[in-house]
Amino acid sequence: MIKIAPSILAADFSRLGGEVADVKTSGADYLHIDVMDGIFVPNISVGLPVIESLRRATDMFFDVHLMIDRPVRFVERFCEAGADLVNVHAEADTVENTKKAVALIKARGKRAGVTLKPGTQAQAILPFLDSCDLVLVMTVEPGFGGQHFMSDQLPKISAIRQMIEARGLACELEVDGGVNERTAALCIDAGANVLVAGSAVFGREDRAAAIRAIRTHSQKN
Ligand code: DX5
Ligand code: ZN
Repeated sequence: MIKIAPSILAADFSRLGGEVADVKTSGADYLHIDVMDGIFVPNISVGLPVIESLRRATDMFFDVHLMIDRPVRFVERFCEAGADLVNVHAEADTVENTKKAVALIKARGKRAGVTLKPGTQAQAILPFLDSCDLVLVMTVEPGFGGQHFMSDQLPKISAIRQMIEARGLACELEVDGGVNERTAALCIDAGANVLVAGSAVFGREDRAAAIRAIRTHSQKN
């Protein structure tokens, strides 16, 4: 079963609670929350107070994508704020500290994801693969919504799917950036099972139709 994770980056922040309720009733599986610090990526988005508020407003599964420098400093606070899954970037710190971040997230009873930027090789996931619950492959340079899908990342998605299968792991494989009803099928073919979609869901008036379209196109292939 393919999971769809709308990214709130493309939502109307003046009425965020309503936007989240809308995608929940429209059939979304996860809510993808992009956190940016202006250092790891050249943009700033939302942080802990927004997640705390949303946590009180919905029981949706929160997939928190930390695009922040040295996330090990903050992962426990994001768990406390209400994240169900916390994604850290492999490029944001040393291997040792990234392993520590994963361990801290899991010690809080939450799921841990490790994310790779487009320029990072598939092999970079190996030190974390046995301990993380999800791998997130970026198909745009992180920092902004509404960019074009980088199809040159598809071999990396396939390679990581093979690594997961070879080890018999239950690890999920998520794709983020430029996913729409057309590119979703490419991601699924390559082995992804969780699709983040910002503009392709929140950018459309009828969110249920948008989610249905992504799901239908994913199943065709
Ligand atoms: C980019 C973010 C994405 C973004 C996706 O840095 O991590 O989650 O919101 O937006 P779309 O689907 O519009 O590419
Ligand atoms: Zn994201």
